Amino acid sequence: MNCKSTETVAQVSKPALPSAVGCYRGRAVSPASEPAEREPREQARKPVHPSQYCYGRQAIQQTRRPVLRNALASAIALLLFVALGASAAPHVNITIPTNASPRVVFAAERLGLALQAAGLQGTVGQAPSTNGPSIRFRQRTDLRQDLGHEGFRLESSNNILTITAAADSGLLYGAVDAARRIREERRLPQSINVADTPAMALRGVCVAMQKTSILPGRRVYEYPYTPELFPWFYDKQLWSEYLDVLVENRMNSLYLWNGHPFASLVRLKEYPEAVEVPDDVFEKNVEMFRWLTTECDKRGIWLVQMFYNIFLPKPLAEKHGVPTQLSAPTPLSSDYTRKSIAEFVKQYPNVGLMVCLGEALQGTTNQISWATSTILPGVLDGMKAAGLREQPPVVIRTHAMNPEAIMPACFAVYTNLFTETKYNGESLTTYEPRGKAAQTHLNMAALGSHIVNVHILSNLEPFRYGAQEFIRKSILASRDRFGASGLHLYPLAYWNWPNSPDATTPPLKQWDRDWMWFEAWARYAWNPDVNLNQDRAYWISRLTAFLGTRQAAEKMLDAVNEAGEVAPQLVRRFGITEGNRQTLSLGMTLDQLVNPKRYNAITELWESQAPPGERLDEFVRKEWSKEAHIGETPVSVIEAVLKHASNAVVFAAAAAPHVTENQAEFKRWRNDFACILAMAQNYEHKTKAAAHVLRYGFSKDMADMNAAGEHMTRSLERFRELTALTRNTYQFANSMQTGHRKIPFGGAANGAGTNYHWVQVLPLYEKELADFRVALAELKDPARATSTTAVQPWPAAPFRLISTNAETYEVKAGARPFVDRRYTFMSVASELNGLTGIRFSHEEAKNHRHVPIEFEVTQPVRVLIGYFQNERDLWLQVPNLDFASHADERGGVEPVLRNAGEIEECPAFNVHAFRYEPGRHQLELIGKGSFIVLGVVPQSATLEKRDAKLGTK
Ligand code: SER
Repeated sequence: MNCKSTETVAQVSKPALPSAVGCYRGRAVSPASEPAEREPREQARKPVHPSQYCYGRQAIQQTRRPVLRNALASAIALLLFVALGASAAPHVNITIPTNASPRVVFAAERLGLALQAAGLQGTVGQAPSTNGPSIRFRQRTDLRQDLGHEGFRLESSNNILTITAAADSGLLYGAVDAARRIREERRLPQSINVADTPAMALRGVCVAMQKTSILPGRRVYEYPYTPELFPWFYDKQLWSEYLDVLVENRMNSLYLWNGHPFASLVRLKEYPEAVEVPDDVFEKNVEMFRWLTTECDKRGIWLVQMFYNIFLPKPLAEKHGVPTQLSAPTPLSSDYTRKSIAEFVKQYPNVGLMVCLGEALQGTTNQISWATSTILPGVLDGMKAAGLREQPPVVIRTHAMNPEAIMPACFAVYTNLFTETKYNGESLTTYEPRGKAAQTHLNMAALGSHIVNVHILSNLEPFRYGAQEFIRKSILASRDRFGASGLHLYPLAYWNWPNSPDATTPPLKQWDRDWMWFEAWARYAWNPDVNLNQDRAYWISRLTAFLGTRQAAEKMLDAVNEAGEVAPQLVRRFGITEGNRQTLSLGMTLDQLVNPKRYNAITELWESQAPPGERLDEFVRKEWSKEAHIGETPVSVIEAVLKHASNAVVFAAAAAPHVTENQAEFKRWRNDFACILAMAQNYEHKTKAAAHVLRYGFSKDMADMNAAGEHMTRSLERFRELTALTRNTYQFANSMQTGHRKIPFGGAANGAGTNYHWVQVLPLYEKELADFRVALAELKDPARATSTTAVQPWPAAPFRLISTNAETYEVKAGARPFVDRRYTFMSVASELNGLTGIRFSHEEAKNHRHVPIEFEVTQPVRVLIGYFQNERDLWLQVPNLDFASHADERGGVEPVLRNAGEIEECPAFNVHAFRYEPGRHQLELIGKGSFIVLGVVPQSATLEKRDAKLGTK
């Protein structure tokens, strides 16, 4: 295996920003039509815009004087810099207001650099020059109604370019726009008169303060801020580079995602042990956080810190003998969290907070109480301590909770709230979202300002993505179908920030490699209502700058748009989930395609995150019964993705002879197109194999199974090709490599992952084909079947039951699995026969009352739990990893024995095995409802997976 092998490469050089062909929604305005100052219209629950909050009054007032000194120092530096660089060049005066904020100074600096790039000379000053070309900043608060905080107007005549805006951000974006025009035209824009405002108020990106694997001794999402874990976090030059990319793309928010950041960023006198980083690291963190806030502020970017709930710092949890992640509030966790949040708001008053009320925290009642009695009061405490006059904006994610029940309760105690919901779950699947998920967005948008979160891109990883048409339509869907007014964009390889997954030395930075990804989302979040011809011309100009010629650019644009359809269509039609427990590019097993329900397939994937259509089983059934098909079908999708993927390869080949710049990166793009084609072909044959297996269920015709075998062979050939294409070019297929990933194959239970590269999973697919061939031979000739040995019972591990509300029993036909029901086992799988189970009150469990089951073991064991296969509320449900990432920490999310017995009056049940180490434990199962305990076995025992086929009738 060579998945870490690297290729030494030239870095990706981005096209010089920009060649703005029809780039903005410029509209002519008449200078005479300036409106008189009006009071802004009152709107129900309209939150204070973060840019208003965090860069407006208090922050700026506090820093105005030193900033002005900095402004002048900067201006002088710029003057020298520009003058030295281009002393003989025509000179342009850039005039900033005397009370210019750092943001306006920064804007002036960018103009100076643009002038220099255009071969001109610029000086920044505060007195308007009386002669010669000049650029003037003009702040007009009376234009706020028309231009908002971020809109601007550019007017030029007689060699004077005036940038007018109601607020600093507008002046900044005016300068960014003007700088583009200056670079493009290589002079001051002449006779223009345009105004522009953004379509979406919040346009942001996120950065993972998280890693590809779980840290030893830690749980999911627990990553303290330290230089060892996040060296890049302390690299100011790197940050400046990325922040400049953001401002160039007119992004105005940056979210840092972490489980529990407070233990790295604040000290509480009541909980000194809560800080989980050394003193020197803590000081560095504070310094970096303040620096980052200031640098963001300068660029009109609102910094937001995200956190999960309920998390406790490890040292605090250890001191109190409690877990670091809690499913329900406790007095300790509430007091500590409220104080942490208050201190955070006090220490970093201009940093926003984003709250994820799940995944550890479970249950609507708990989540409402936690939000309204701990988190939001914490923010209010901090607001008071910091002397803030307005509520700081707080963003609440709707992930892993019931937002319709919870958000109104939050609004009742706090008004300046934003809601945020995933766009297509944790993938990019469609620009025609609908169903329940769409309704949630609409419900949230009705409550207040709502943000769409383009979350982890599980189906796009690890390849490049530049399909601007798909992205444009997705932004339109976000605004028009969901009512969103904000975008929160993930990078393409979230957990591996800041590096891309390519096997290159040095690593590629994601913002360099994925410049088209960031730019397209940002561009359309600013304005999705573009003229399509002008828009195409814009992208051709951008790609011309990137690849060197227009011929190459035109073909490349077509290639990226074609390639961008493949992964979305495949996952929405055949996938198990849009969640990050599936990695699309690693393929799927035959069983996952034939029996997706066994893998906890989530219906939302095709009912909300896809246009109407049919899944494989429905399609095959309708074919068999000759019913008409509806919408997108497996056949139509396979046809479409093959066409799109081959077109991408053909267009890229046509571009190749014309590429004169960025050859190495173009080669990598081409390899990605080839990978996407091989992936589409792998899915073509695998889904055809699955369709034949499903058809065999009706036809009982061996020809179907033979055809399935042929397609299995061909799908493996295509997977081999995909492996060859990625062996030396990628470090991994997906950046999340923990045991959380299950589809197609599980990652490691803990720590560093496995099965994250095609090279690693190829042998598993080879085995799958070999097993299929054996099964097929046995089907044709049952006499060849070798597995005649009887299934043996699993060995029992001794345990001591401590709880008095439960009792042990022998698992066998005739035994009763509950203490308060007469139901008996009518049959039981051989594996379970004779094991010692634990029984308790079905009545208590089914009514969601806590049934504490405490036990002690002296060796590592697995506890066997029976989950009934029925979705009614009385039965405990297998936890869904898409909403509870920690659910598989003890293993057990996947069944080891399906249909393992028959119990009177009860549905069929599957057995799941949860690991416990020696010691005293309370059985921890996520969720509520009734279940059965079927025994305790040593961890060393091999539990052969099987379908016992009992109780299914
Ligand atoms: N599923 C997790 C979340 O939504 C991690 O992406 O927060």
